[in-house]
Amino acid sequence: MAYSETEKLNQILIGAALSNAVCTVTELGIPDLITAGTPVSAESLAQSIGAHQRSLYRIMRYLASYGIFKETPNAQFDHTALSEALRADAEGSYRAGARTWFQLFPTFGTLHHSIMTGEAGFIKEYGKPIFEFLGENPAMAPLFDAAMTSFHGYETQAMLDAYDFSGIKVLADIGGGIGSLIGSVLQSYPEMKGILFELGHVLGRAEESLKSQGLGDRCKFIEGNFFESVVSGADAYIFRHIIHDWTDEQSVQILGNCRKVIPADGKLLLVECVIPTGNERSISKDFDIVMMIAPGGIERTEQEFKDLFSKSGFQLTSVTSTSTMVSIIEGTPV
Ligand SMILES: C[S@@+](CC[C@H](N)C(=O)[O-])C[C@H]1O[C@@H](n2cnc3c(N)ncnc32)[C@H](O)[C@@H]1O
Repeated sequence: MAYSETEKLNQILIGAALSNAVCTVTELGIPDLITAGTPVSAESLAQSIGAHQRSLYRIMRYLASYGIFKETPNAQFDHTALSEALRADAEGSYRAGARTWFQLFPTFGTLHHSIMTGEAGFIKEYGKPIFEFLGENPAMAPLFDAAMTSFHGYETQAMLDAYDFSGIKVLADIGGGIGSLIGSVLQSYPEMKGILFELGHVLGRAEESLKSQGLGDRCKFIEGNFFESVVSGADAYIFRHIIHDWTDEQSVQILGNCRKVIPADGKLLLVECVIPTGNERSISKDFDIVMMIAPGGIERTEQEFKDLFSKSGFQLTSVTSTSTMVSIIEGTPV
């Protein structure tokens, strides 16, 4: 059915329900209770989790109308590609991403604060910046790490396809999370060595993950805070979804610390969305709002990256787009 312009507006106005519904059914474990090709009734799903049957049916029907699950003619629910990606065992599972937003959903209510003050709404809601909050919440932090792999893991192969990392002897992944990026690059370039630089509370999980892939002896794990210093000893420095977490001033501080240790012929690689100019619909503009309210950062245009680079002692040498939302923004020291 085609919607009128005002009905479209209605749909947008109550659109928070969609995000909340996906995150909630994932938190409840519904995607894992359905095996593709074997539909399950809402009654049976409700019994499995002790839920109110009619309410669960209505949520499932709503999600199915967006292509997340599908309802069969006899009122059972089966998977679609989108709902299957929410299963714990899906390749590149989005479960952790959905569960993280289930936990942090109140952040979306803080947009007014962010617009009026320029401060991350997260701070108003939770009393401290997100990375401090995670460091003090041992239950939440591993979920957030896994969510980063949910949201960004699929970008790695696209980066490897688009950008030639050959010639790099030691690659330092700064704020590398649990190592999904550095692990894949090291697997693809067997001569390369890696350094994973992270906050102390994340590093243990990164080390465990790389060791389980047999890469423990090709990667050093260095604890640090990139606002104080960046590890030396690499000829290329990669920052994936780091700079978008921070304001321009903070970003210049981080990149300035990288500038102090990068060799004269070294490479700086940022992996980020590049916001297109004009009215074009782009998921980078959605992530930009998430950056505004959660860490207090910014998704940037190419010109904004050029400006950041020049303020930090780098020049932007290339922007390589990938088949995903991210590009590889390369710079060299000046
Ligand atoms: C948005 S996540 C990106 C993780 C990873 N690069 C990826 O692409 O999946 C940001 C990362 O920065 C790390 N981080 C935040 N503040 C940091 C700091 N001051 N020093 C070092 N790492 C930090 C966090 O622990 C987190 O893993």
